[in-house]
Amino acid sequence: MIFEKNILITGGAGFIGSHVVRLFVTKYPSYRIVNVDDLTYAGNLENLKDIENNTNYIFVKANICDTQAIEHVMAEYQIDTIIHLAAESHVDRSITDPLAFVNTNIVGTANLLINAKKAWLNDMTGKLFYHVSTDEVYGSLGETGFFTETTAYDPRSPYSASKAASDHLVMSFFHTYHLPVIISNCSNNYGPNHFPEKLIPLSINNIIQKKPLPIYGKGENVRDWLYVIDHAHAIDIIVHQGKIGETYNIGGHNEWKNIDLIRLLCKLMDEKLGNAPDTSLQLITFVKDRAGHDLRYAIDASKIQHSLGWTPSVTFEEGLSKTIDWYLANTTWLQHVTSGDYLTYYKSHYENV
Ligand code: NAD
Ligand code: DAU
Repeated sequence: MIFEKNILITGGAGFIGSHVVRLFVTKYPSYRIVNVDDLTYAGNLENLKDIENNTNYIFVKANICDTQAIEHVMAEYQIDTIIHLAAESHVDRSITDPLAFVNTNIVGTANLLINAKKAWLNDMTGKLFYHVSTDEVYGSLGETGFFTETTAYDPRSPYSASKAASDHLVMSFFHTYHLPVIISNCSNNYGPNHFPEKLIPLSINNIIQKKPLPIYGKGENVRDWLYVIDHAHAIDIIVHQGKIGETYNIGGHNEWKNIDLIRLLCKLMDEKLGNAPDTSLQLITFVKDRAGHDLRYAIDASKIQHSLGWTPSVTFEEGLSKTIDWYLANTTWLQHVTSGDYLTYYKSHYENV
């Protein structure tokens, strides 16, 4: 069968990647979607059960640092588009194991770039290397202001430094070899299938388990939250209409202090669980702050709004409510991902909580 496009999505078994894979597989039956994922602790094929038998979907278990495996995938499936999401993504883990982030996020990205350049050397027409990155590369804001596409990079954690390095590599391949690239830098995502090491799903899981809700420092840090399916739609628009060589910031216009967010989450969950008001608030526990904890992230998303017509479609209250409903309806998924290694990680990271 001849496909209109042959798209390699890396990290498609993870949180955001699985939503991107599902969107492309179902919306574009004439595209072949090849999902390359090494299934680390964060990768889970259960996220894709509903589409795994679609005829335009292929899964390949491989590490993005593996040159031969990537070379093979590029040739075997005549890849013309790469949407690169595979990464080590958790800031706290980057503080305890920075090298894993250097390997996957920097070396892995370099390996993909080198293989894309090699495969597309004779004809770059219609090709695209799209790198999915983070707003954390811009560093930390004070109480005012926003990150724009021209904000200077100032990464402050091993995670954000490794993502910043990967962004620079991507742009270097554009300038040096004319590889057709696009980068997007997105704010904090939330939604179904989010691994429960991150603030929102960890807190949902702990409320279900009646366990303490660990809040770093005073809970004053601010994040700009975006529903994951809105991010997947932004990625779709950028793949089809984005301009080569450009960067697009993606954000939710939705800033929350961590403590206010957790209070809202407690209220919504108490309502859904039929608890007496304020039951879950009692679980809030202030713990030692994250080292180098960035104070505030906030995205100015006017470029993607004005040039490509993308805006978030879901309000935070709707998105959070849908997210809680998903976790309450998918307790088996939650049990599977919180057994084994998760317990070891949890114990070592939240020692006394
Ligand atoms: P995730 O941790 O949920 O998923 C990462 C996926 O990559 C997993 O399926 C994992 O198995 C796979 N992976 C990791 N190392 C690999 C390797 N060496 N080779 C092949 N596969 C590997 O991450 P996420 O939250 O879905 O983030 C996806 C991307 O989006 C990342 O690049 C991240 O930096 C970026 N991002 C995330 C957010 C967010 O809020 N989660 C916001 C902005 C940008
Ligand atoms: O901004 C985009 C980034 O958002 C992505 O690039 C990262 O991959 C993603 O993990 C996320 O990073 P954060 O560090 O902002 O997300 P996290 O959910 O880990 O933390 C959100 C906020 O909550 C942050 O201020 C730290 C705080 N926090 C987190 C955890 C896990 C707590 O207070 N307690 C916790 O237990």
